[in-house]
Amino acid sequence: MSFFITFEGPEGCGKSTQSRLLYERLSERGYPVIMVREPGGTRISDMIRRIVLDLHNTEIQPMTETLLFSAARAQLVNEVIRPYLDHNGIVLCDRYADSTYAYQGFGLGRDLDELRTLTKMATGGLTPDVTILLDISAEAGLERKFIARERARQNARQSPLPDGRTAAPMEWNRLDARELAFHQRVEQGYRQLIAESPDRWRVFDAYLPIEELSEQIFDVVEHSLGK
Ligand SMILES: Nc1ncnc2c1ncn2[C@@H]1O[C@H](COP(=O)(O)OP(=O)(O)OP(=O)(O)O)[C@@H](O)[C@H]1O
Ligand SMILES: [Mg+2]
Repeated sequence: MSFFITFEGPEGCGKSTQSRLLYERLSERGYPVIMVREPGGTRISDMIRRIVLDLHNTEIQPMTETLLFSAARAQLVNEVIRPYLDHNGIVLCDRYADSTYAYQGFGLGRDLDELRTLTKMATGGLTPDVTILLDISAEAGLERKFIARERARQNARQSPLPDGRTAAPMEWNRLDARELAFHQRVEQGYRQLIAESPDRWRVFDAYLPIEELSEQIFDVVEHSLGK
């Protein structure tokens, strides 16, 4: 049975942590599963990722940003996600179309109907079976990310790599750097998206300890797979 699961939520809510843990739990139990992240997941999409997230690219226009995210998604869906689903696999995707609605729609104020049309073109209408929202305030998520970045920087200073290089600090990208009000609009946007299609969403308390949250997510996913 094919199954498509996406992870959503504000910056630093734990999407990458939880998608990795769910991937491990599912593969340990023998499920055919792959994990991808947006933007990225293919060679072409990773090239686009570098453009959209680069802190230096401040002149990117909202429409350019929207089209680049959609282009990366079109490549990922057609090259990786659809073929795997066609072979009855489970695909976990760290961010997907709802991020476009939350960030470019609610965050940047682009027209939601236009975004829906564009997304349909990019994905051929592929919609997740289940979308996991890791619920956290915009402030708390950004703080988590900030703390993690500072910790990584400190570790890099204390233990530089043997050749004198330092380990890469946690990513702090062009979208993270937007003002708090933007991230608050994103957070509220997710609430509106859930209200529009509540059946697809599963909302989790992102303040729970990582392992506990991972168990809760696994239980809900296994239940959904059994249906
Ligand atoms: N449940 C949790 N409790 C406390 N800290 C957490 C929890 N989940 C993740 N973290 C920490 O918060 C930071 C951000 O987590 P993670 O990178 O998984 O979030 P993300 O949603 O993928 O972020 P981004 O929006 O940047 O992709 C990491 O340092 C991670 O270890
Ligand atoms: Mg992440």
